[in-house]
Amino acid sequence: MDRAYYVTTPIYYISGNPHIGHAYTTIVADVLARTSRTFRPTFFLTGTDEHGQKVANAAAAAGKSPQEWCDELVPRWKALFAAYHIEYDDFIRTTETRHVEKVQRVFEHLRESGDVYRGKYEGWYCVDDETFWLESKLVDGRCPTCGRAVQWISEEDWFFRLSAYRDRLLEYFEHNRDWVQPRSVYNEMMVFLREGLDDLSISRTSFDWGVPIPGGGVIYVWLDALLNYITAIGWSEDEARFRTYWPASVQLVGKEIARFHTIIWPAILWALSETAPEVVFAHGWITVDGQKMSKSLDNAVDPFSLADRFGADAMRYFLLREAPLGSDFSYSEEKIAQRRNSELANDLGNLLQRTLAMLQRYRDGIVPGRKGSSALGGRFEPLPAIVRARIFALRFREALEGIWELVTALNRAIDERKPWELHKQNRADELDAVLYDLCEGLRWLAILLHPFMPERMSEMWRQLGTPERIDEDWSSSLRAWGGLAPLTQTAPAAPLFPKLDTIAQT
Ligand code: MSP
Repeated sequence: MDRAYYVTTPIYYISGNPHIGHAYTTIVADVLARTSRTFRPTFFLTGTDEHGQKVANAAAAAGKSPQEWCDELVPRWKALFAAYHIEYDDFIRTTETRHVEKVQRVFEHLRESGDVYRGKYEGWYCVDDETFWLESKLVDGRCPTCGRAVQWISEEDWFFRLSAYRDRLLEYFEHNRDWVQPRSVYNEMMVFLREGLDDLSISRTSFDWGVPIPGGGVIYVWLDALLNYITAIGWSEDEARFRTYWPASVQLVGKEIARFHTIIWPAILWALSETAPEVVFAHGWITVDGQKMSKSLDNAVDPFSLADRFGADAMRYFLLREAPLGSDFSYSEEKIAQRRNSELANDLGNLLQRTLAMLQRYRDGIVPGRKGSSALGGRFEPLPAIVRARIFALRFREALEGIWELVTALNRAIDERKPWELHKQNRADELDAVLYDLCEGLRWLAILLHPFMPERMSEMWRQLGTPERIDEDWSSSLRAWGGLAPLTQTAPAAPLFPKLDTIAQT
């Protein structure tokens, strides 16, 4: 049995409504988890980051208590993930007792081990990014990440001895060159490390929306938040469960928060005598006019209306096909519509419709037997292993490109072998062979694309009439070309991806 696979997303600040950028990371995690679940124990964690000044300010502006505000917003995030067919195993909220208790335990532990000490923090703070900044890092006196005004704070705080972990971090980075991906982010983090590390203030005293520290103050929201990855799987509570999943196989983060996850996070874990995650992957941004899409820049796109207009699965496809995971890409409705119409409606949807229509016309909708070997089968049998390897290397775009070679080959088979002529000329065996290959190819596509477009591929599966489960282990369901049983009764239905102008009218 393979070791369990544990994938996480950042936990989202609930200072407002979610946007498509938040759905993006969670969809990526869902594709990984769905692929992994077919053959090994898998755990997919997401959730919400509810403490801190940013959320407290948002609640105050809405005239609510922070807890009330969070309780009202969490269902919107859950609804978003449901709308995008995301199946997480757990959704952690940092205000839950199961988390808060363990965060306090971590603090005690760090105090006992001597990793924290009392000191005075004086410096700049960006509330929007919940980040302390050295004066030298500010750009024109503003936050270097988001460009907003920073505030001066002066507090008696607890400090974490981050500087003491610098040598170990450098050594770890040097010996594990793939632990932070992509390489551009790894290199950037090395620059930070080489510049030197300051100790980190891990408490705040000027407001109280956070995990309380005995003796006063609350825990700095980033320490509180990072710990979700271990509190959710039972750190200090359920040793067996914790050891099953930790260290995480891959932690997905946006590139703006790579520093927290690749410098501060491993140091904290080491202070707790735990290991660092196996891989942290920092993905790129969805941009609008060259800028990161964000609620505060007021350029955010409502993910619910996108799912309504383009279809949640088409959006999932677009987000993973448009750019390699580590790159930024610009948001454009034309591009979404274009990919949906050409790749999903024409290449894939039409292929299913034409195949099932021909099968209906020539064979009463029943999958024929096939005599002899299949050139298509020979060519595509290695595909599942290739796709799986690309998915776990987080090369989703290349995984989809690989799958599309099969789509193209099946469309070409129709154009070249012209089943309607084979029918006219009574070449029954040849007609059976083409029709069988088309149906078998579609079955492979439904299985391979299921992690990407779970709802639409289940519908395709239903139309193909296949009795087994779509999410069976590929090493059995896609072991060899020819798994589709002859005599299967297909069930053609409405197009998988109706052309967009049709949708607009409904
Ligand atoms: N709460 C922190 C994370 C704590 S993790 C221990 C946080 N939250 S956030 O809500 O501001 O952003 C979370 C994540 O949303 C980002 O890391 C990123 O994955 C995703 N995105 C937000 N805007 C995005 C884009 N415009 N494009 C792509 N992803 C984006 O930071």
